Amino acid sequence: MLKNPSSKYQPFPLVSIPNRQWPSRHLTHAPIWCSVDLRDGNQALAVPMNVSQKLEMFDALVKCGFKEIEVGFPSASNTEFQFNRRLIEEKRIPDDVTIQCLVQAREDLIEKTVESLLGAKKVVIHMYNSTSPAQRKYVFGKTKEEIITVAIKGAQMIKDRLHRLTEGGTQVTLQYSPESFSATEVEFAKEISEAVMDVWQPTPEHKMILNLPDTVEVAMPNVYADQIEWICTNIKNRESLIISLHTHNDRGTGTAATELGLLAGADRVEGTLFGNGERTGNLDIVQVAMNLYMHGIAPGLDFSDMSGLIHMYERTTGMTVAPRHPYAGELVFTAFSGSHQDAIKKGLSGYEEHKSIWDVPYLTIDPNDIGREYREVIRVNSQSGKGGVAYLLESEFGIELPKDMQREFGPLANDIVDKLGREVTAAELKGMFWKEYIERETPFALHHFHADGVDGIFTCRSSLVINGQERGITGTGNGPIAAFAHALIKDAGAPAFEVATYREQSLSSGTEASALAFIQIKTASGKTIWGAGVDTNIELASIKAILSAVNRAS
Ligand code: KIV
Ligand code: ZN
Repeated sequence: MLKNPSSKYQPFPLVSIPNRQWPSRHLTHAPIWCSVDLRDGNQALAVPMNVSQKLEMFDALVKCGFKEIEVGFPSASNTEFQFNRRLIEEKRIPDDVTIQCLVQAREDLIEKTVESLLGAKKVVIHMYNSTSPAQRKYVFGKTKEEIITVAIKGAQMIKDRLHRLTEGGTQVTLQYSPESFSATEVEFAKEISEAVMDVWQPTPEHKMILNLPDTVEVAMPNVYADQIEWICTNIKNRESLIISLHTHNDRGTGTAATELGLLAGADRVEGTLFGNGERTGNLDIVQVAMNLYMHGIAPGLDFSDMSGLIHMYERTTGMTVAPRHPYAGELVFTAFSGSHQDAIKKGLSGYEEHKSIWDVPYLTIDPNDIGREYREVIRVNSQSGKGGVAYLLESEFGIELPKDMQREFGPLANDIVDKLGREVTAAELKGMFWKEYIERETPFALHHFHADGVDGIFTCRSSLVINGQERGITGTGNGPIAAFAHALIKDAGAPAFEVATYREQSLSSGTEASALAFIQIKTASGKTIWGAGVDTNIELASIKAILSAVNRAS
């Protein structure tokens, strides 16, 4: 990169609007939407969609509620021509849906486009030519006047062929795009647009669409808004025009540019699902629609099945939706941070109580509205306190560690996590707990346990495996646990200890219910150590818990 970028790049000139209105307006209703997935989106794919993929996408767009769909550039490819014919001949276009086709201002291309649309009910013919200084200079080598002549001639050629469609009952709307509008002088964009209007003669009853593309984002979105407001204010016969926005995302502000463009007076928005399109993509229409929705404005598009739509999009385009893509990404409604999780939990239960306006911290919308669910991913790192560890075991697996045991296991877990140098999941944490307590079988492993009592005195006859050797042990006490403890000390050579604390709980994993016992022993030197055991039988779970503690003490 250059140390001094100003030697190569320059800021974009501002538009002079002494009394701009858009900054103090707010959006109150949805615009007219036009999907350009099947044209601008499709032409940006490494492998463009085939006819059956385009049909699947078309049906999905209709299902979302799009009433205007740019279906292709039929003069540019046979697939696009055939696609139009199938849509029309197989009567796949609902009566309230208008199909739109793009065409350059050239006679042969216009001819072919009209042919591809014969028999359709409602169509938009979208003509464009490029108008920016760089396009005029490098691409066409034409003066402003010559560029205007190209547009006028194209507009006339279309007008001359309209009867072929209208005579067959097709309703036609005409659309003109001064391509590269945002990089064009506003005065020239107005001049060329008005020249096209002079040919097409739109009226308030039969408007034409004037589409003002941000073909390549060259400035901040406020500048695009100024350009739109300038045109809306200065163009003649504004009431005979539908002003349309078509933003791309080169500077990452395609959504902002569209939203500010709407504030500036536009009526219509072109874009694609999830922002597919040339280079950094077209405007993501889902984003703008959902942004309206989260302000309580009905967008007129339905994304209730967001996951289904993503699957269709990924299948037909071969593109993917990134995990953090607004509204749509896999991680958008997932919280990793403990403090966020806590706030969301409180917000959700508050919302459950009053069920009125959504004001849950960290969640812009209710994920259920688009067929999603809020998800918590709970993890522990070396900085998480013992409370975090205990919370995770309890919330994810129902393991309720006694408070005093939390003080023992918390630092042990944090040490392991510290050595790993990363966060661990709840399942990994449970694995650590199992390894530390439940799976301890040395030096003593239980082979067989039996105890029975007479008149409150219990006798235990059991066997252990000690260093690979089986050994029988016997002991007595006022309960099975005390009898086993006595046998352990007397016959197995375990250090003297007494049971200080005992707790049990039930655990259900899958279909199996089991018991989890926690036992804290106190050695002769006064040291306290915890053990834990799991078994379907509660008595055996306690015996295993004693062995776990004794093994940990040995
Ligand atoms: O980005 C653009 O300018 C276009 C036009 C053809 C409308 O796609
Ligand atoms: Zn485009």
